[in-house]
Amino acid sequence: MKIAVLKETRSGETRVAASPETVKKFIALGAEVSVQSRAGEGARFSDEAYREAGAEISPSAADAAQNADLVVKVQRPSSEEMRALGRGVKLAAILSPYNDADSIAAYARLGIDALSLDLMPRITRAQSMDVLSSQSNLSGYKAVIDAAAYFGKAFPMMMTAAGTIAPAKVLIMGAGVAGLQAIATARRLGAVVSATDVRFAAKEQVESLGASFVTVDEEAMKEAETEGGYAREMSEDFQKRQAEFIAEHIKKQDIVITTALIPGRPAPKLISEAMVNSMAAGSVIVDLAAEQGGNVALTRPGEAIETGGVTILGFSNVPGRLASDASSLYARNVFNFVSAFYDKETNAFAVDWDDEIIKGVALTRDGAVIHPAFAETAGRPAPVEEQTLEEAPDEKSSDGAPSDNAEDSA
Ligand code: NAI
Repeated sequence: MKIAVLKETRSGETRVAASPETVKKFIALGAEVSVQSRAGEGARFSDEAYREAGAEISPSAADAAQNADLVVKVQRPSSEEMRALGRGVKLAAILSPYNDADSIAAYARLGIDALSLDLMPRITRAQSMDVLSSQSNLSGYKAVIDAAAYFGKAFPMMMTAAGTIAPAKVLIMGAGVAGLQAIATARRLGAVVSATDVRFAAKEQVESLGASFVTVDEEAMKEAETEGGYAREMSEDFQKRQAEFIAEHIKKQDIVITTALIPGRPAPKLISEAMVNSMAAGSVIVDLAAEQGGNVALTRPGEAIETGGVTILGFSNVPGRLASDASSLYARNVFNFVSAFYDKETNAFAVDWDDEIIKGVALTRDGAVIHPAFAETAGRPAPVEEQTLEEAPDEKSSDGAPSDNAEDSA
């Protein structure tokens, strides 16, 4: 059983899918691990550290992937990397299938069994494998640190001989994994924190962290959570009333951190241009949904901008800004996933295709698209009612790998 760890090629991706710690654990299971040279550079894991953990260091992606049974990555592979993977290989990464229908068809054509870790079901058994949670938690923390760095005032109340400084007022929109960590971090820095969400369950979680929960309609929130624990898109009426309510609240905030997402849909627009303009000069907005279209009307993905004295941060790949911790946690998620299906007797990654976890993450198997959300359309984007993400361009190279176009990361 050979596991290959490739160096990420997507621009700005600093993370890596295995750490020296998890390499050691894979080897203890009985696997052979090949790490592409400098794969851990962005996360400060040296080739030497991987070698000491028992890995073989390979000069290129093609060398690392040669005869591999399983390839692990953070981002989905580029078309060149796809071509380096042999038929029948398993690939585990954040494949973002809703944003990239073309690649799903390509995995099938190239005989790659693609396992999309961002589709991990939210069940107790899979919690330690949940890459979205581990990465969102770090994003929530970093969003507050970024906001504090751009904010020209202090967060905590300070009573000094020269007078008193008022505490910063922070609003967190979307109290999922990232939002709850943002609340905890902002509270630790001494801010007065309020938060909002559409899921009713979020209210108690927000209040247990010492923040106040602000909402326009608690009754409507009771219907907002899916069985998978994610939010539904709310009715137009709810969205309108929520926007009016937030417009009043936001005027008094110094910092706003938005994290609202709906799986398979563009991020809901929660902050209009008028709301931004109503905030005092010096205020800071951090839009963690920037890569999924943004929660703020003026966000520019990947950029920090200032408009009317209000700073809007739309940084890409926020967990990658904490590359070492993000990689360590991601690598443990990957190890927990692989080891759950590792058969020591046969020394193989013995995927059980009937297991709930595998059914959740498997996009393709033996040349066919098998995931129920994508199988019917055989990798083509589903109709607008099901997903309204940008259509992926239709270009394919002659060998079946798609062109590298979409940019996204978790
Ligand atoms: P997410 O990243 O998909 O969305 C972030 C937050 O935005 C969610 O709380 C969502 O309700 C909220 N949101 C969506 N539309 C909104 C709107 N219009 N206005 C305000 N907020 C809006 O969600 P995330 O962070 O991945 O977690 C969702 C839930 O799943 C959480 O309750 C989390 O605790 C739970 N979870 C459960 C796990 C398990 O294994 N049981 C593992 C990880 C998370």
